[in-house]
Amino acid sequence: MSFFKKTKNFDKLPEHIAIIMDGNGRWAKKRSLPRTAGHIAGSKTFKEIARYANKIGLHYLTVYAFSTENWKRPKDEVESIMNILRDYLRDTKNFKDENIKLRFIGDTDVLAEDIKQMIAEAEDDSKNATGLQLFIALNYGGRDEIVNAVKKIVDSGISSSDITEDTINDNLYTKGIPNPDLIIRPSGEYRLSNYLIWQSAYAEYWFSDILWPDFKPKDLDLAIEDFNKRNRRYGGI
Ligand code: FPP
Repeated sequence: MSFFKKTKNFDKLPEHIAIIMDGNGRWAKKRSLPRTAGHIAGSKTFKEIARYANKIGLHYLTVYAFSTENWKRPKDEVESIMNILRDYLRDTKNFKDENIKLRFIGDTDVLAEDIKQMIAEAEDDSKNATGLQLFIALNYGGRDEIVNAVKKIVDSGISSSDITEDTINDNLYTKGIPNPDLIIRPSGEYRLSNYLIWQSAYAEYWFSDILWPDFKPKDLDLAIEDFNKRNRRYGGI
């Protein structure tokens, strides 16, 4: 837990916030725009929120950009999300002074070659950044992550009696990243959608009706204020 004392109505920041960036399609529909326009607006919000999280001193932010289930969407929508991602990755070259460390979690092996290369470059370019650690979940699914972890553990030949929670933690995409303290889901949906399902066992949740493209830094403040009121007992009393 890091502490933040300035002009805010909260005095402590969660260590790790995870966000499900939901509602892009409905935002576009309300404006009679194609769904792509919603994803473009959503990516602007993502950049604004990442910058703001970095400014207030948050240590870890993870955003859900594309799930293992999102391949079921129409081909042109999938392609437009991948193109938005390409634009973002290209753009990160211009924002090196932001001091944000960027990393990806998920099964990125199956992505297009140019995207994989841009991801490798963006991760390498930002590897020494000391500000926010920003994780983008891409072709990510919590169940898929656990299946992969089990495969790796079995392949390692470890004896079942030696398996602990740490064995699982160390074989997830999120190895070394603290568990999320606060999970934010806008757009009026109340589910986890296969996001960080192992890691969020003791997370606090914050839901809102705001559609992701309309989400503003002040909404992040509200979520953090609310988090400050929670009494986390982790199963104790
Ligand atoms: C969920 O809203 C959103 C997605 C599946 C895509 C999220 C992608 C972005 C915000 C842009 C790319 C991100 C980066 C990191 C550059 P939805 O489409 O399910 O909305 P709906 O429920 O209203 O239809």
